[in-house]
Amino acid sequence: MSRLKENFLWGGATAANQAEGGYLSGGKGLGTVDVIPQGNYRFDIMQGKLDYRDLPEGLHYPSHKAIDMYSHIKEDVKLMAEMGFKAYRFSVSWARIFPTGEEAQPNEEGLAFYETLIDELLAHNIEPIITICHFDVPLYLYNEYGSWKNRKMVDFYAKYAKTLFERFNGKVTYWMTFNEINMLLHLPFMGAGIAFEEGENEQQVLYQAAHHELVASALVTKIAKEINPNFQIGCMIAAGQYYAQTSHPDDVLAAAQKNQDNFFFIDVQSRGEYPTYAKSFMEREGIVLAMEEGDEDLLRENTVDYIGFSYYSSRMVGTLNQDTSMTSGNVFPTLRNPYLKASEWGWQIDPVGLRITMNALYDRYQKPLFIVENGLGANDVVEADGSIQDDYRIDYLSQHINEMIKAVELDGVDLIGYTPWGWIDIVSASSGEMKKRYGFVYVDLDNDGNGTLARSKKKSFDWYKEVIASNGESVRK
Ligand code: BG6
Repeated sequence: MSRLKENFLWGGATAANQAEGGYLSGGKGLGTVDVIPQGNYRFDIMQGKLDYRDLPEGLHYPSHKAIDMYSHIKEDVKLMAEMGFKAYRFSVSWARIFPTGEEAQPNEEGLAFYETLIDELLAHNIEPIITICHFDVPLYLYNEYGSWKNRKMVDFYAKYAKTLFERFNGKVTYWMTFNEINMLLHLPFMGAGIAFEEGENEQQVLYQAAHHELVASALVTKIAKEINPNFQIGCMIAAGQYYAQTSHPDDVLAAAQKNQDNFFFIDVQSRGEYPTYAKSFMEREGIVLAMEEGDEDLLRENTVDYIGFSYYSSRMVGTLNQDTSMTSGNVFPTLRNPYLKASEWGWQIDPVGLRITMNALYDRYQKPLFIVENGLGANDVVEADGSIQDDYRIDYLSQHINEMIKAVELDGVDLIGYTPWGWIDIVSASSGEMKKRYGFVYVDLDNDGNGTLARSKKKSFDWYKEVIASNGESVRK
C-alpha cells in the first residue's frame, strides 16, 4: 500500500479578492470582484444579469478591505509556518500587476508585494502555489472589451501570466491558470467578468468566452514551459461527482451527462481537444465557436501537468419527480441527498464523495491530482474565554482526509497535496459574508466590515498542525 508521499504538500488556500483588501493600495486598479457588493444585489451581479453601474450608492463591498492580508503578510505567514504548512495556495490580483490590463509595463509595486510574500514563504520552507486568475479581471477590461467575451483577452492574459512566470521563475513551481474555470458557465460575472446585454444569446456568449479562456490557458502553458520546463501548470475545476437519485436508467443517464458537462473544461485542458459530447451539444444548441487558425494545435500541444480541484460536496440529479427538494452547494444547486447532512449554508457533507470524485478524475485523466480547496463554512462562536471550539470543522476535515488517504492508499490515486480552503477566515465568495468562516485562524471582523482584524487560533489550529506533522497519521481511522 502506498502512503501519502513524504513531500506531500499540506497547507491552505485563499484568493486575493477574499483576503488581501488594499483594493486601491500600491497602484492596484479596480477588479471586477471589487464591484460585487454584499447583500440583495449580489447574486444578480455575479450572474451577469445586472450591471454594476446600475447599482445604488452606499453598498458594502467586502473585497475592499477583506481581512487586510495586504498589511498582515508577515504575521499570517508566521501562523502558517507555526502549523507546519508545506504549501500555500494564493492568487495574484491581475489588477495589482496591470491596473487596467492594457499597460505595456507591469506595476512594480504590485509585483514587489507578491515577491515579499513569496520570499517570506520560502524563508519558512513553504511552497508558493499560484492561481494566476481567481475570478478577478481588471475592471477596465470589462468596461472596454466585455472581458472574456472578447478574443483580445487572450493576449492581455498572456502578457500578465508571462510577467509572473519571468519574475518568479526559480521561486515558484506550481501554477494554476484559472480558478474553478467551470464557474464561467454558472456565475459568469464572478467567474469571468461576463455580463449580458439585452437580447444576447447567452449560451453562445458563454461558450465563446470559454473558448477564449481555454486558448489562453494553453497559450500560457506553452509560454511557461519555454521559460522553465520544470514549471508545473495545472487546471482547476469546481468538482463534485453527480449521483443518480435512483437506479432508474434515466436517472443514471442524467447523472452521467451532468458529469460530462462538468468535465467539459478539463477535458479540453487535459486531453487537448473538445470532447465529442460537447461538440454535439454545441451543434444541437446552434452554438458556433469562432476559432482562429492554430487554436486546435495549441490546445492539443499544451495540456496541463496536473488536475487541481475544489471539493465541498457531491451533487445529485433525478428525472422522476420523486423528491425534488433542492439545496445549495458551491453554486451548483442539487437535489437533497437523504443520506447526507448539510452545513448551515445547505452544502451537503459527503466525505466518501471526495474519494469517488478523486477516482473519477484520476480514471479519466491519469494525471496527478491536487486538492486545492475543501472545507466547512461555519458560523464560529467565540467563547467567553476567547477560545473557539470548532469540533465540527475538525470532524469534517478528519473525515475528508481519511477518504483522501483511502483514495491514495487503496485506489492508487496519485495526489500532490491538500490545501483546504480559507485556512484563515476570509470573505465568502458566494455570499460576501464574513460569518461563513472556514479557517483554523479566526479573524475579528463582522459582516459589515467592523472589527480589529486580530488573528486568533481556533481549536482546529493545533489539530491541523498535528495532522501535518504526522503526514495524516493522526486522523487515520
Ligand atoms: C470556491 C471558490 O467556489 O469555493 C472560493 O474557489 C470560495 O473562492 C470557496 O470561497 C467557498 O465558497 P464560499 O461561497 O463559501 O466562500
